[in-house]
Order: sequence, then C-alpha cells, then structure tokens
Amino acid sequence: MKKIAVFVSGGGSNFKAIHHQIIQGNISGEIVLVISNNPNCGAIEYAKINSIKHVIINETRYPNSRTRNELLMETCIRTEIDLICLAGYMKMLPPNFVKQYENKILNIHPGLLPEFGGKGFFGMRVHEAVINSGKKESGATVHFVDEIYDHGPIIAQKKVEVLESDTAESVATKVLILEHELFPEVVKAFCENKIIIENNKPKIVEYNEN
Ligand code: GAR
Repeated sequence: MKKIAVFVSGGGSNFKAIHHQIIQGNISGEIVLVISNNPNCGAIEYAKINSIKHVIINETRYPNSRTRNELLMETCIRTEIDLICLAGYMKMLPPNFVKQYENKILNIHPGLLPEFGGKGFFGMRVHEAVINSGKKESGATVHFVDEIYDHGPIIAQKKVEVLESDTAESVATKVLILEHELFPEVVKAFCENKIIIENNKPKIVEYNEN
C-alpha cells in the first residue's frame, strides 16, 4: 500500500476521482495527507468530511517562505509519503522538495503538454489558448514534476477533439472528464510499480491509451 499525499488549491474534483477509485479498491494506495494553500476550497471541505488529515500551508499562516518550505518537507517525510499528486495545486514547489521526491510527484495538466504549458498556463487559461490557437484537439497530461513549471517527463496523455462549435468552457468540461480517468489510472500504475523509466522517459508497462 503506497501512502499518497494530494496537494490541492481548488474544487478537488481530481482528488475526489482518485479517492473514489481507492474506495472502490482499484488502487493499492491510501490518501494519508492533503496539503493546501487554500483553507476554504472544496478539496479541503472534502478532506474534512472524509476524515483525511489535511494541513494548510500558506503565506497568511506562515509569512516566512523558509518556514513554509520546511513545514512542507517535514510533514511529508514524517507521514512517510511514497507518492505526491498535484491535483489542481496552484503553487510552485521548492526545488529541494522536488529533488527529495524525484519521480514521485505527479501533476495533472488540462492540456497536451508540451504545448499550452508553463507559467501562466493553468485552468481556463489553457482552454482559452487552445480555442484561440484553432487547434483541433486538446486533452490532459500527467507528468512527473521537475524544477521547471509543466516541464517534467510526460507519463500519459488522453486526447479529445475540439470542434468548431466548442468554447473554452465546453473544452474544459470535456478535458475534466478525461482528467478524472487519466489521473487515477496513472496513480494506480504508480502504486503497482508499473511506471518504469526507459531512456530517461517514463512509461507505463501494459498501458492501453484507449
Ligand atoms: C484541473 O483541470 C487541473 O488539470 C488544473 O486545475 C484543475 C483543478 O481542478 N491544473 C492546472 O491547471 C495546473 N497547471 P480540480 O480542483 O477540480 O481537480
């Protein structure tokens, strides 16, 4: 059983999707910790209802960035975390934290990286950029986190068609449905030690994209 920490800032629908698959017995892991910068988000509400340990780390509570970074590291190490899932977490992780958990931090991005990623590309901004670009497809990406925003090695993607009639909102809805499939699938593979690194590229063994 892998011990999972989920980092969240918003509604937490990806967190809920992973938790749901765990409850169903489809993932051999347990969410033992939720970390958020936002005490009032839906994800924290959900953690409370489900009695999942949650810790708020933000500038208001800990104005000193060093204190915040130390607390983040200490909390994860003390809880013996095996896997960290960034599920709509809108804060940059400190470099020493990323190093400590190399190839153990997964991020979900609402677009087909490496396109439409990097600083400023999050949430609806990604979908607006896709619509403005005239691209015919979009999708979701799960990747390992490195020191650069949205840059780490891609593990898996799912694609969806973008139609003439689509808006940023309708693409967001379609992509979110894919995210709720893709993220739990990758978490499941991680928990079964089925993500291998081949020629510096992660790959899920026995994974069928459809
Ligand atoms: C998701 O669409 C996720 O891909 C995105 O934030 C949303 C969170 O929704 N993450 C990013 O944009 C990170 N760059 P949720 O709180 O309902 O899971």
